[in-house]
Amino acid sequence: MKIPRLIQSARHEPQALMAELLAGLMASTATVAPKYLYDALGSRLFAAIVELPEYYLTRAEAAIFSRHLGTMAGALGPVATLVDLGAGNCEKAARLFDAFQVQRYVAVDISASYLRESLDKLQRQYPQMDMLGIGLDFSTHLNLPAELGKGARTLFYPGSSIGNFAPDEALALLCQAHAAAQGGALLIGVDLVKPIDVLEPAYDDALGVTAAFNRNMLLHLNRLAGTDFDVADWRHVAFFDAAASRIEMHLEAVRDVTASWSGGARHFAAGERIHTENSCKWRIDDFAALLRLAGFSRLQHWTDEREWFAVFLAFCRSG
Ligand code: AVI
Repeated sequence: MKIPRLIQSARHEPQALMAELLAGLMASTATVAPKYLYDALGSRLFAAIVELPEYYLTRAEAAIFSRHLGTMAGALGPVATLVDLGAGNCEKAARLFDAFQVQRYVAVDISASYLRESLDKLQRQYPQMDMLGIGLDFSTHLNLPAELGKGARTLFYPGSSIGNFAPDEALALLCQAHAAAQGGALLIGVDLVKPIDVLEPAYDDALGVTAAFNRNMLLHLNRLAGTDFDVADWRHVAFFDAAASRIEMHLEAVRDVTASWSGGARHFAAGERIHTENSCKWRIDDFAALLRLAGFSRLQHWTDEREWFAVFLAFCRSG
């Protein structure tokens, strides 16, 4: 049996990260990057979100893959290297291995050590497959290590995580994906515009799991940056901004609050918000145009029956 190899790309300087985080808190509209939603508890809460009846995205995407896997495999041909962006427990990618005849699997996530357990488990199921785990925060820049070699790669970016980037940032990331695919292809899941009475409950569920996910960010910040947020002072707010075509998540102060940390403090009046996440919802044509702008061609897409979610396959080369 082969052994998965782990590579940790250079991490950003903790002091620079801290400065960026505190600058966001001090901005006139306080903003914290959504990556801070995912500490250990946040990742577990996200795993619970995908099980919620209101959170249709994961089920819609899974339905598309189970229905169209054969067609996708036919369009791609045997996949020499599958690069899984934001791999987590690697389960979504593992469902593609047989149909896509994957020879080498490269799981990318923020920390290589998070990937160890999932890759060890997967390696036991696929003892002869080359497996590699890469720790990389590709939300800043998608630069895969040179060790991966020169051949074409199929990049896999499911879950509509691309929606957590503003359109200009999404374009920048897709351009980097185009370069990183080295003449190969991109398979990407995208959440689509749909009625507000479906969208909003998906981000403000009846059980309050998404609220807990959002408010838990404050506990994460307390540990990370030494802030003294009390979660009881904050409520979860999520709404669809139709003009920007995105769900916005915020934390709203329920009373006047002062958050302090070593060397600084910020007063929040009751009703003032911290912007924690955007989740952009795309129209098929607009996302196809974005892929073309990033250099991709020969686009194909599949949707679920309700046309709530799309999976796009896009190639680097027109031929
Ligand atoms: C990870 N990402 C695609 C999720 C989304 O739907 O934007 C994160 C999330 N935020 C609240 N619920 C789920």
